Amino acid sequence: MAEITLSIIKADVGGYVGHSDVHPELRKCCVVQLEKAKKEGLIIDYCQGEVGDDIALIITHNRGVENEEIHRFAWDTFTAMTQVAKEYGQYGAGQDLLVDAFSGNLKGMGPGFAEMTFEERPSEPVIVFLADKTEPGAWNMPLFRMFADPFNTIGLVIDPSMHEGFRFEVLDLIEERKIIFSLPEEMYDMLVFIGSPSRYVIKHVFRKGSDEPVAVTSTQRLFLMAGKYVGKDDPVMAVRCQSGLPAVGEVLEPFSFPHAVAGWMRGSHHGPLMPVGIEDDTPTRFDGPPRVVGLGFQLKNGKLIGPRDMLGDKSFDNARKLALDAADYFRRHGPFEPHRLPLEEMEYTTMPNVLKKLKDRFKPA
Ligand code: 13P
Ligand code: 13P
Ligand code: MG
Ligand code: MG
Repeated sequence: MAEITLSIIKADVGGYVGHSDVHPELRKCCVVQLEKAKKEGLIIDYCQGEVGDDIALIITHNRGVENEEIHRFAWDTFTAMTQVAKEYGQYGAGQDLLVDAFSGNLKGMGPGFAEMTFEERPSEPVIVFLADKTEPGAWNMPLFRMFADPFNTIGLVIDPSMHEGFRFEVLDLIEERKIIFSLPEEMYDMLVFIGSPSRYVIKHVFRKGSDEPVAVTSTQRLFLMAGKYVGKDDPVMAVRCQSGLPAVGEVLEPFSFPHAVAGWMRGSHHGPLMPVGIEDDTPTRFDGPPRVVGLGFQLKNGKLIGPRDMLGDKSFDNARKLALDAADYFRRHGPFEPHRLPLEEMEYTTMPNVLKKLKDRFKPA
């Protein structure tokens, strides 16, 4: 069985209308590039995914993670789409392309990516999650639930191949360091950190005794690269399921609770992460609320058999209702915290410019 790499590479290269959706012409341009890459043998298969104003290249190949040719292809694709976005006057055309030219790989260049290389099992169910109007730390709580919480994942209790738990790699985005926690033994230690999702994010989950990832997230934060607010870091994630891993239903279950995440309106507000079907991936109310779609695939020899729209199912209707009620609740706070992000986070928005203007008005008290 050969190793394959699953890469999800995403960018916002222009919104239709505002920050709510992707124009069909951008979609078309994207698929043309993907089809060409498949014909030329650069990639094995692809699926063009999207949520809100973000487009994701979901691709399989044999070139490993952070591969120069693959990342260059993604960059060129986003660049071509940006041209179309400009032609059609799309909002924030080229928003996530922070540098003028590609060099080496996409790290620090704007587009987000989540990639993992693994040996494909005879049946390899994978769920790709795409979220808009939020940030990478939004995956912390769902990942914790899937791989560490027995009230979510009964497999941790009754499946001997899961009973010993999993290892979690956590990144500190501010100090650029990482740590691996072994759960369940170090559950409380890890929660100290991942409970602060704006700074600490789960990057990978591993089985014990193996360095082959079973889940991976995108972890870039644009303001840390650009030094200023340039849109939110709408994140992606891939999770492998079944046979010693959480069942598909255990991977989806955390999204039955629309937990509060950062990133709504101007990247400056908390709101519920609403699970939606592909048809409903267009945030509009106050540019939100934040939302997540789940694309299910069975991988076979690198072919992406799918996608199935996993979160569109009726069984998530109550979660949507709760999310909408929570959205009302948050909205009634208007410009007050905790709807608005705490001051430290607002440093990366346009708010400091307002503060600057008032600086000399303060007198000692
Ligand atoms: P099936 O019996 O439908 O294969 O389901 C097995 C299972 O454990 C689902 O959670
Ligand atoms: P995006 O990050 O999805 O472009 O949204 C930006 C925003 O500020 C919406 O209010
Ligand atoms: Mg946008
Ligand atoms: Mg977006």
